[in-house]
Amino acid sequence: MTTLRIAHFSDTHVLSLTGVRARRFFNKRWTGAVNLALNRAKHYRVEVFEALLDALVAVKPDHTVCTGDLVNLALEPEFARVADMLRAHFAPDALTVVPGNHDAYAKDAVAEDLFARYFGQFQGDELGLGAGRYPVTRVRDGLLVIGLDSAIPTRVFMANGRVGTPQVAALRAALRHPEAQDRFRLLMLHHPLLPDPSRRLEASRRLDDAADLNAALAACGDAAPHLVVHGHNHAFKVQRVPGTDIPVVQVASASRSGAHHFAEFNVYVVRDDALVDIERHVHDPETGAFVPRDADGVALAS
Ligand SMILES: [Fe+2]
Repeated sequence: MTTLRIAHFSDTHVLSLTGVRARRFFNKRWTGAVNLALNRAKHYRVEVFEALLDALVAVKPDHTVCTGDLVNLALEPEFARVADMLRAHFAPDALTVVPGNHDAYAKDAVAEDLFARYFGQFQGDELGLGAGRYPVTRVRDGLLVIGLDSAIPTRVFMANGRVGTPQVAALRAALRHPEAQDRFRLLMLHHPLLPDPSRRLEASRRLDDAADLNAALAACGDAAPHLVVHGHNHAFKVQRVPGTDIPVVQVASASRSGAHHFAEFNVYVVRDDALVDIERHVHDPETGAFVPRDADGVALAS
C-alpha cells in the first residue's frame, strides 16, 4: 500500500519596496495600492512564512504545491526575495507553483514575465502537452499534478481570475493522457471554483469562468481529478465540484499573523489513489510551532 503526502501552501503576499523607483508610485492608482499593501504587510509576515517553510519541509512531503499570490504588488524585489526563500527550501522538482492575481498585479510584471523568470524552475510540461507554459504538468511516482493559470492582469483593487477555453481543453487532454491513468490526479489553481458569499465584493474576486471549468470537470467521469486545491480567500474550507464527489480544498494564508487568523499549510494524505486524510498545520504565535490539526481544527496527537 503506497502512501503519498502532498503539502500545499498559498497566499504569502510578500511585500518588498527595496530599490523600487519612487516614480512608479507617483500616480494615484499606485498610491492607493501601496497604502493597502503596507497595511496588509502588518498581517502577512515574511518571518512567519519562513517559519512555515521550515515546518513544511520538516514534514518531508513527497511533493509540495503552491497556489499563488506569493508577492504583493508584483514588484521585482518581491519576486527575488520569495525565489531566494523557495530555492533555500525546495529542489526544483520538489515544488510546483502557479500564479495568483497579485503575481500579475502590474502590467509591467506581466510584460517582463517576472513570475516565469523567478519561479519557472518550479514548473514544467512533463506530460509534453506542448500547450505553452500552462497547464503546468508534473509527473511523479503515483502522482500527476496539473496546474492552471487563473491570474489575469486586472485593474488595481480587482481580483478576478479567468482560466480560458484553451486551458480547459488542455486540462481535458492532460486528464486523458496515458500517464494520468493509475496516478493520483491533483488539480491546482489560485482562484476558487465556487463563490464565497461571505466575502465582500465577491463579484470582483471570483473566477469569471468557474462554471465552464466546473462543467468540464463534471464531464470527465473516470478521468476526473481526485482532488482540486486552491487559495485566494485565506481560509480553510472543503467543498465539492458541483454535481460530483471531487473534493475542493481551499488553504489558508501561509504568512498570516494576527489575533484571530493564523498561518497554515495543508498536508493531503493519499493512499491507493484516494484522498484519505487532510491535515492542517496551524501556526501557534506563542511557540512559533506549526501544530497539526484535523480538517475540523482539532489538534492531532503528536
Ligand atoms: Fe488572490
